[in-house]
Amino acid sequence: MDEHERTPPSILIVDDVAANLSLLSGILKNQGYRARPAPSGALALQAAGYEKPDLILLDIHMPGMDGFEVCRRLKADKALADIPVLFISALSETRDKVRAFGEGGQDYITKPFQVEEVLARVRTHLELRRAQRTLEERNTDLREALEHLKNAQSHLIVSEKMAALGVLAAGVAHEINNPVNFVKTSCHGLEKNFEDILSVLSFCRPLLSAEGLAALEDYQRRIDYDTMLREIPQLFGHMFEGLQRTEEIVKSLRTFARTDESLGNRIDLREVADAVLVMLRSRYRKHIQVLKSYEDIPAICGNTGKLSQVLINLLSNAIDAVEEQQDPSRKHITVATETLRRNENDYAVLHISDMGQGIPQELIHKIFDPFFTTKSVGKGIGLGLFICNNLIKEHHGFLEVASPAGQGATFSIFLPASQEDRC
Ligand SMILES: Nc1ncnc2c1ncn2[C@@H]1O[C@H](COP(=O)(O)OP(=O)(O)OP(=O)(O)O)[C@@H](O)[C@H]1O
Ligand SMILES: [Mg+2]
Repeated sequence: MDEHERTPPSILIVDDVAANLSLLSGILKNQGYRARPAPSGALALQAAGYEKPDLILLDIHMPGMDGFEVCRRLKADKALADIPVLFISALSETRDKVRAFGEGGQDYITKPFQVEEVLARVRTHLELRRAQRTLEERNTDLREALEHLKNAQSHLIVSEKMAALGVLAAGVAHEINNPVNFVKTSCHGLEKNFEDILSVLSFCRPLLSAEGLAALEDYQRRIDYDTMLREIPQLFGHMFEGLQRTEEIVKSLRTFARTDESLGNRIDLREVADAVLVMLRSRYRKHIQVLKSYEDIPAICGNTGKLSQVLINLLSNAIDAVEEQQDPSRKHITVATETLRRNENDYAVLHISDMGQGIPQELIHKIFDPFFTTKSVGKGIGLGLFICNNLIKEHHGFLEVASPAGQGATFSIFLPASQEDRC
């Protein structure tokens, strides 16, 4: 049995004629209803606001505020608008009855009162109201269930997506690592062989006759031997630099691909940011400047793979935002770190600031909701920040966002400084 069934329904009766009030009250009380009389429109509104009735019987013609006005005011008040209103009208006044519906009334009862009719209409509307309330409750339950489902689904999508990406990244890192190693070993070998060949040449030179030496020098001129000698170390330099960059990428991929779930890695957030910037380089290198401003920060305890995901999402959003800007002076992103104290705890803080279009104040509370996106289909699904928020909470930290008008957006990750004994 629910609340409404336990307590008898309360009915507010509004009529300026005392005889009508007591007659209707009597009829309703006899049937076990709680009847509350109100002799004027103004008092009726007060009574309804004080304790919301389940139904109102409302006389149309009253001095001062008439029934239509009372009904209009009830319907304009969000808290009272759903109370069913039954107008009381004289039998002959057809126009009033029509208007009663127009003003938001649910029904009418006619004077002089027919007991059976009054009770039948009251009963019907109370039943209707109860059914409507049950429906509303079911709807709320359904909405909550849907929200839970959405959350569960997005968790699933996220973990499947990340697991698949992790496996892919680990595979790619492994596959690249092998050929990179052959190239590196071969380059070192080649460099050594060149040195040996050059020493053979220097060894032979004094052994040549004057004629042989002239022929050699002529040949060397033709092939621009001196330039070649100068270029060889530069060419090796380029090869080793390229190899070093490839190794950095592979290292970043491995960091990202760590599939262990543990939160026990001792982490310097700056290293994670550097690895992620290497991974995203192709997305920003040509047209966006990334500035780093690192202050010393304490190590934190966590999972490198998960924190890489957070940074990838935040930096991807910053890149998306900056890409929309036409003005080249706004095409930059800053990654900064500092130590801040909040609620007597030390936090390693990483800020990602961009000079994009920013986030309108009215949307800022929505951006962490799953599936909230302002991007076109195919560009975003609205899970990035939802994931970031969950992962940072998992690390006992929190995310803050600031977007002052015209100055882009700054997302700040706060992670508690690690206690020496924790990891
Ligand atoms: N740096 C930013 N500047 C401006 N708006 C942003 C920024 N970061 C997030 N937003 C807003 O928040 C919304 C939600 O971001 P979120 O990362 O959760 O989803 P998304 O980027 O749209 O899609 P995806 O699931 O691919 O990340 C974005 O669509 C955008 O409107
Ligand atoms: Mg995103």
